[in-house]
Amino acid sequence: MQSAVSNALVALIRDFFQVIILLGVVFFMNWKLAMFSFIVLPVAAFPIVKFGRIFRKLSTSTQEEIANVSNLLHETITGNRIVKAFCKEQYEGNRFFNQVSVLFAITIKDARYRCMQHPLMEYIGGVAIALIIWFGGREVIGGNSTPGTFFAFLTALIAAYDPVKGVTRINSTIQQGLAAATRVFDLLDMEPEIQDRKNAKELPEFTSLIEFNNISFSYDDTTPILQDINLQVPAGEALAIVGPSGGGKTTLTNLIPRFLDLKEGRIVIDGLDIRDITIRSLRNQVAMVTQQTILFNDTIKNNIAYGNQEATDEQISDAARAAHALGFIEKLPDGFNTVIGESGERLSGGERQRISIARAILNDAPILILDEATSALDTESEREVQKALENLMKNRTTFVIAHRLSTIKNADRIIVVKNGRIVEIGTHDELLALEGEYELLYNMQYK
Ligand SMILES: Nc1ncnc2c1ncn2[C@@H]1O[C@H](COP(=O)(O)OP(=O)(O)O)[C@@H](O)[C@H]1O
Ligand SMILES: [Mg+2]
Repeated sequence: MQSAVSNALVALIRDFFQVIILLGVVFFMNWKLAMFSFIVLPVAAFPIVKFGRIFRKLSTSTQEEIANVSNLLHETITGNRIVKAFCKEQYEGNRFFNQVSVLFAITIKDARYRCMQHPLMEYIGGVAIALIIWFGGREVIGGNSTPGTFFAFLTALIAAYDPVKGVTRINSTIQQGLAAATRVFDLLDMEPEIQDRKNAKELPEFTSLIEFNNISFSYDDTTPILQDINLQVPAGEALAIVGPSGGGKTTLTNLIPRFLDLKEGRIVIDGLDIRDITIRSLRNQVAMVTQQTILFNDTIKNNIAYGNQEATDEQISDAARAAHALGFIEKLPDGFNTVIGESGERLSGGERQRISIARAILNDAPILILDEATSALDTESEREVQKALENLMKNRTTFVIAHRLSTIKNADRIIVVKNGRIVEIGTHDELLALEGEYELLYNMQYK
């Protein structure tokens, strides 16, 4: 796009005006002869248009294939440990070779058309000039024109030939730019699926109740993932969500910050349907800690302060202390200013998790979602993280998809989600007394 807009556009305008002015001169000198030379114009325009289409199509494929190549590179380079562990170097090498071959074939095709365009234009130009010399020469011999006018005419016409060629050459750059612009604007014009409604209100500080009313949800409109969910969670409650994997626990919690939108049922916070409030004010009140910790290649300090960039150093270190992260951070060579590498690769799993908990603590949102925040950890760091989570859950409304029994036991209420339905609800002791799903899960996992 850049070269189409800067270089090509300038060259195009220059060549275009040269052609126009020189043609004016040509007409002024001998309009009959000029008309004759115009017969060749449509012949010359045909390959310009035809090649333009080909170039645009090829350019779109080139850009797509370059994207595929860089995706593949990114995937295999960041996943290089797995590639090595499974001895797949050869396999990945072949995969890359095949991907690059596709790009190579398109590039060669593009070069071939480019090379064809040039002699074709020369050929058309040569034939045109020959015809004009033949016709003009007859005029001179017949006495209808002087040799002087004819040569002046010919000079102007030949001078016009170069800019015409220039226009055709630039054509391929312009077509490339257009192809790129099409791809860019396709993306820019995409409407986000989840948007603020007109007249959406700000959500005031959450104080009393989150309600799930008759919620059913499906990703593809055919397979129901959640069905008939009815639930009321008062402010300050710690609600544990348990159940078999694939039951819909993550989906249920993703509905709260509107990562997914409901078609059936409503979620109401303090009397306001979440679709009637601004996404920003809603998400400002929700903090999340998930199983996959998402950290940025930046300092520890900036990672912790991600949700609250005005935080003072003292607040950041308090959050780190509450997250049981201060100990290991202080042992690092640069302390809070240590850069943690791409997605935190220089930290252990437990350390990463505690940084993301410190981030949630500092964010200080009243609603907290913990999605298996400890399930990927070893017992030692899990104990640390567990203590950090308990600090985080204080004075907040928490949805905790739990994996550890102690978290579940400490929760005010537990719901068991199975096949998209809430099948049991109550405290630990109540649910055990039911001798149902919860007891089954409990016996399987903890006994
Ligand atoms: N983005 C998605 N698109 C389609 N199906 C999904 C998506 N995410 C999850 N699912 C499906 O929804 C079901 C519930 O998933 P999930 O809420 O992640 O369960 P849980 O957290 O209880 O393990 C699963 O069958 C899963 O395959
Ligand atoms: Mg899940």
